[in-house]
Formats: sequence, structure tokens, C-alpha cells
Amino acid sequence: MCGIIGYVGREEAAPIMLDGLRRLEYRGYDSAGMALNHGGTLELRKCAGRIDNLRDLIGRQGAPGFSGVSHTRWATHGAPTDDNAHPHLDQSGRIALVHNGVIENYLSIREALQAEGHQFHSQTDTEVLAHLIGKHYAAIPSGGVRQRLVQAIRMALAQVKGTYGIAVVHADAPDFLVGARLGSPLVVGLGKGENFVASDVAALVAHTRDAIYLNDYDLVELTSTDFQISSLESGRESSFEVQQVAYQKEEAELGAYPHFMLKEIHEQPVSIANAFRGRIFRENSTAMLGGLNMGPRDLRHIDRIILCGCGTAMHAGMVGEYMIEGLAHIPTEVEIASEMRYRNLPIDKNTLFFVLSQSGETIDTLAAMREAQRKGHRVLGIVNSVASTIARESDGGSYLHAGPEIGVAATKSFTSQVTVLTLLALWLGRTRTMGPIEGNRVIDELLAIPDKVSRILEQSDVIKEIATKYLDAESMLFLGRQNNYPVALEGALKMKEISYIYASGHASAELKHGIIALVKPELPSVFIVPDDHVYDKNVSNIEEVKARRGPVIAVATEGNTEIAKIADDVIYIPPCHEHLTPLLSVIPLQLLAYHFAVARGCDVDKPRNLAKSVTVE
Ligand code: G6P
Repeated sequence: MCGIIGYVGREEAAPIMLDGLRRLEYRGYDSAGMALNHGGTLELRKCAGRIDNLRDLIGRQGAPGFSGVSHTRWATHGAPTDDNAHPHLDQSGRIALVHNGVIENYLSIREALQAEGHQFHSQTDTEVLAHLIGKHYAAIPSGGVRQRLVQAIRMALAQVKGTYGIAVVHADAPDFLVGARLGSPLVVGLGKGENFVASDVAALVAHTRDAIYLNDYDLVELTSTDFQISSLESGRESSFEVQQVAYQKEEAELGAYPHFMLKEIHEQPVSIANAFRGRIFRENSTAMLGGLNMGPRDLRHIDRIILCGCGTAMHAGMVGEYMIEGLAHIPTEVEIASEMRYRNLPIDKNTLFFVLSQSGETIDTLAAMREAQRKGHRVLGIVNSVASTIARESDGGSYLHAGPEIGVAATKSFTSQVTVLTLLALWLGRTRTMGPIEGNRVIDELLAIPDKVSRILEQSDVIKEIATKYLDAESMLFLGRQNNYPVALEGALKMKEISYIYASGHASAELKHGIIALVKPELPSVFIVPDDHVYDKNVSNIEEVKARRGPVIAVATEGNTEIAKIADDVIYIPPCHEHLTPLLSVIPLQLLAYHFAVARGCDVDKPRNLAKSVTVE
């Protein structure tokens, strides 16, 4: 949540930071701003609304300077207004700060500072931190500006509780920038005659591929030609590694697509193949996830699996639960990360604990991981974002290799997560009861998925017509059974996220336990009803809805002509292995939500109130 980019160099900082903010806009987009160091004064430009508003403001007022800090915000404390937009200044107006995270004890600090005469112009926790740094700075009797600033930052951060990724500049130090992190990501970009700090490498890749991912309690001092990383607490130099960022800038650009969400939906034949590439071993009818660093003996001892994540990643975990239990017969549970982190969850030593996260930065998932590690458990990550915090702190795991996912509504990361979980189920299954014939069947089915997804994508226009037909709906139900129950949850989440209508997902048979009371001609129900072992049961549930004049959109298997006689509309998916149907059935639901939201005029890539990467609690 919230995107930061800071720059020190020889170029005009404003265009570089504006471009960087655009690439970070997925992290939050309710206001934006920058502070530039220009000849010993801070030029502050900030406003509510999207980055375009900031661009227009800079167009009108100019924004000179060769160093500065900038920010795109997702509001936590204080409404999205001009005043609450970052950067925030200290009392002297000489220090500017941008912040990602939450300062939990800001109120008491604010009151103490107010009692000392500090005046605040916003409702944010961030402004309190800026003032606190300024207060300490003013109290340090001697030393150079840089040295005093760093010391003041250390003193202020020692006083705050919460999470932060910050970037700070001082008007009197034109070629100097300080960053620090605890709980919120921060990466340093090393250029030639210029250096950067940002919340995500996406903001840097246009300028450099040399990056250092900061760890918690790291503080970085940057000039245009040098950098130094030290421990926030001890002040001693920290170890670091300069990594080459493998990132295609074009991957994060729209190309011919009108929206990232549509682009990412269409990338799924490739992203699914990337998730299984090199991990299937036909000669043994199995798969292997090398990053888990586990051999057959280790796998044999596993008697329980926990899959933990938030939002779409959690839904992928739920698909994994059906899959692992079905294919490998290992008891599997899904934990909501935000709940798990505060539970006293019993995890015994033969339990394999996975966290799933596209971004690798979701704070609740990270906290759940750390809680399990604190108890001495090995935690494995299923993560997309390379070198993200979860990827770095986990004790092994698998990357999704899906490429950047920019659309706030997760799409390709879901199918990639399910693909990796399929490989895991196959691998575990083959160490237990699954024979080579079934192993090969799963492999064949998985290898066929990308082509089948392409066939579904060809129906985009048909799905668009169906979406248009139900455009007046103010709510929608999504229903599925077994492997497709989590897909119903995911379909409802997509619809809610981007079109702002109420949608809920349920196990179809639960209809009669309350939900059916809602059914009426104005409430469409989307049933996922592939040819599986619960097909007939699902059809009975459809009949129950039809009997109450509820419209039904069915997602059914190609060749099923019967369903068209019951349902109002049918979207067909190719036949496949029951456990793998979620990889297909979710595609029409992604497209349905997309077309529905576009037709209703919603901003699908940046839905209101949401952010792609939730780095605050
Ligand atoms: C946010 C996003 C969701 C995402 C969830 C988990 O809520 O809006 O799309 O599923 O975070 O994100 P992660 O990066 O951990 O998969």
C-alpha cells in the first residue's frame, strides 16, 4: 500500500519520479505528491486524486530540482485530501518525508508535540513522524546536515511503534536522501551518477537493473554517486547484496490492451505454462518443486499441510486443499493469514506450512509466516514477486514466474498458484498412493490446460454479451461445489472488487440453508457446473433457483446441451480432470467481472478503495 520513489542525481527529478509513481500506482491511488530539493528550498507539490492530477499540477507550477521524494497514497489515517497527501514536512518546513505503513502510536506523539507548539496540517500519522524527526534534528547541537538528519531519523524511529518504509530529504542537503524500513518494502536502485529508493523495483527498471532489497531495520543514505546501508538500531554497516533485476519493462506496459486486467487474463495460457515449466518429470510420472529443498524421505513424513494467504491467494489455497487431499490424501487446511497471525495454531513438526502471495509483501501473510517461524517451523512461500519480502524471508518455496501483475484484481496469479499447487499435489501423491498411470494422467491434463484456456479466451465476446444482459443487476450469487466452490468465492470477489455490486460465493448445496431467500428475477446466479461427480447435485440446485424465477448463468462442460435447457445463459469450458477444472472455470468468471465492470464504467485496473499490495494491517 502506498508507493514511494526517491531520486538523487543529475537529471530533473520530477519526470523520473512521476514515471516511477505511475508504475507504483497499483499500490494506492487516492492522492500523490512530491517534494524536490531546489537550491536550498523544498518545492512541495501534492494533491488528491490520481497521478494525472499531480502531473497537471506540476505542468502548471513546475517542479525544479535534482533530488526529491514522491508518493502515491492509499489512505489509512485521514481522508484522501490535498493536505493528507504525502510528502509531509516537519515544523521547520525544511524536512520532507514520504511514508508507507502505519505509525500506531502517532496520537500520543502528536499530542506531546502539539503541547510543545508543533502545528499539524493533516490528519496523518506520517506528518507526526516528520515533525518528530524535525524535533530531534533541531535538538542535535552540532554536526553536518547529513549526519544530524540520519541521527534524528534514528532517534524518531526508535520512538515509533508500527511499520514504515520511508524516504526523507532535507532542504540543506541537496544531494542526499535517506530511506529506512520496518515491515514495508524498500529497494535501492543503483544508477550511474544517480541513485534511487522505491517501494518496488517496477519504479526503477526504466533506469537501472542493479537493486538492493533492504531488510527490516536497514537505513540507507544515498547521494548521486554513493550509498551506505547501516542498521537502524546499532548504526553499524549492514550486509547487502546487489541483485540484477530480471524484469521486462514491456511486461508492465499495456500494449494493445485497454486494461492490465484484460491483458493479464489473456496472458494465462503462457503464465500457467511458465508455472509448470521444468517442474514435470515424465519419466517418473511426477513433478518436483526444487525450491522446497525436500527429498522423498522428507515428503513421506508430512502428515498435514497448511496453506495460508489473503484474498485471491487464499482462494487458490482452498483449491489446493481439495486438490492435495484428493490426489495425495494428506489432510490440508487453509488459514486466512490475518486470522492465523493472532491465533495459537497448533502446528506439529510434520506439518508443511506454505504462505501464498502474489506480491510477497502482504503484511498479514508476512506476519503469519513470521509467527510460524517464531515457533520454529519451516515456512515455504508460493510467491510471484521475485525477491519480495516473503520470498526472501521464507525458508524455501516456488516462484510463480507469472510476470508482473498490475491490475488490482488478481487473475493470472490465481491460476499460477493453482498450477503450482497441482504440481505439489502430484509430487506428494506420487510419494504415496498415486500410481504412475494416474500421475501421467494428471501431467497430460496439466499440459493441456494452456490450450484449453486459450479456447475459453476466444469466447470473450460471448461473455461480454452475457455481462451486458445483466448490467442492471445490483447483486449476484456465485455457486459451485467441491473443487469449484473456491472458484465461486473467487468469481464473487472479482465481481465485488471491480464493479462494486454485492456478490457472494457459496457452496451450491448451501443455497437452501438461507441464501435461497434472496433469489428473485433481479438476482442472477452464476453456477459453475462442469461434468464432475457432483454434476447432478449441482443441477438440482440450479432447478431450485429456476423454480423461484432466478436467472442462471451456467459455466458448463463443452458438449453438454442439456444445461442450455435449464440455464438462461451458458459459457462452455473444455472437459478436463476434475481437480484441474478451477484452472478453466475461473477464466469465464474473470472475463464476466471484467466486461461487467467496463460496461458499468468502472475503473477496472484501479478500483476504488483498493490497492494491489496490502502492506498495512
Ligand atoms: C489484496 C489484493 C487482492 C489479493 C490480496 C492478497 O487484497 O487486492 O487481489 O488477492 O491482496 O495479495 P497477495 O499479493 O498476498 O497475493
